[in-house]
Amino acid sequence: MSTVAHPFRRLLLPAGALLGAAFVGIQFIHPPLENPPVTGDFQAPVAVKNIVQRACYDCHSNQTNLRWFDKVAPVYWQVSDHVREGRAGLNFSTWQSLPPDAQKAKLWEAVNQIIAGAMPLSEYTLAHPAAKVSAQDVAVLKQYVASLAHNPPADSAKLNTAARQYRHWQPAAAKPAAVPVAPNGFAFLPDYKNWQAISTTERFDNGTMRVVFGNAVAVQAIRDKHINPWPNGTAFAKVAWDQLADAQGNVSPSAFKQVEYMLKDDQKYAATKGWGWARFKTDKLVPYSKDALFTTECISCHQPQQHNDFVFTQPINH
Ligand code: HEC
Ligand code: HEC
Repeated sequence: MSTVAHPFRRLLLPAGALLGAAFVGIQFIHPPLENPPVTGDFQAPVAVKNIVQRACYDCHSNQTNLRWFDKVAPVYWQVSDHVREGRAGLNFSTWQSLPPDAQKAKLWEAVNQIIAGAMPLSEYTLAHPAAKVSAQDVAVLKQYVASLAHNPPADSAKLNTAARQYRHWQPAAAKPAAVPVAPNGFAFLPDYKNWQAISTTERFDNGTMRVVFGNAVAVQAIRDKHINPWPNGTAFAKVAWDQLADAQGNVSPSAFKQVEYMLKDDQKYAATKGWGWARFKTDKLVPYSKDALFTTECISCHQPQQHNDFVFTQPINH
């Protein structure tokens, strides 16, 4: 009996050896991951810099510091992909080449991604627990982003002009002669002022006030609690005004900054996550961007909400 080897054993041994050999073999498939020179490192107060360095630099800088376990294939392949993609979207080592406004926007996006739990990637923090970002860290980052946006107090002339602009918008802002169209073919929807406001917020980063409006389909979907996914025909408009503070710190809305839209149609807009996106700037309603690629910007910032059909605003239930 004992002379007959168990058939599984017979198979298992060579299989194990094969796997082992394969594991050793793939270690030689190492597309090199270089650390290009640091040309303009991110500058910020130490507390801020420390958080970003600790939690983000491995994927978003040219100072990637791979630990031994990151260097073992197949983990290495995934890690090096993350670093390549991460650097492409945000690189703190070339930070100084971004204009100040773009820096602010990136930081605001970064804080949003952290708050939404999308960054740092959870696959990564699992193996690198030190990179986790605490609530305390988030508070530090938020405060820093807010400090960058500090607007000087406005004088009364400016405040008066602002009030005029706001009043002008409110009842019936001048209808544009021709309906402006965004580069992706999305035509301005003038009706949004009659939609229902579903949230208002003050954005802490750059002194704007904004209101999110929803059309009738959106309002009905909220009533029916059918908001994930939102039904076709749902439209949102996010309107932003600059915000002015007087010497006493009273704030009021001023110049109309922009209106942004999301319009749901899972067929027509299948290529852009089922939503048509558009942004029209200033009271002249100038379409944002020269080409339709701008939608990737919208989507990448809304990405943390992918499990909420890419919508940030969570309606308050009445
Ligand atoms: C393990 C690698 C990794 C770490 C660590 C990491 N990220 Fe990312 N990050 C990525 C990858 C990959 C992408 C692009 C794909 C995606 O969005 O999922 C990305 C995208 C981003 C984007 C969008 C960039 C764009 O395209 O505009 C922001 C913002 C961002 N990360 C912020 C952060 C911040 C802030 C931290 C630190 C708190 C961080 N990330 C840590 C891998 C990482
Ligand atoms: C920097 C990150 C960021 C970018 C880029 C961005 N959004 Fe948003 N968007 C937000 C956030 C955050 C909200 C939630 C409301 C708020 O806090 O202002 C939002 C809300 C909205 C809303 C209201 C519905 C909702 O999701 O709550 C619309 C409409 C909208 N964005 C359209 C756009 C369009 C169109 C673009 C591209 C032209 C765009 N967004 C680019 C961050 C971004």
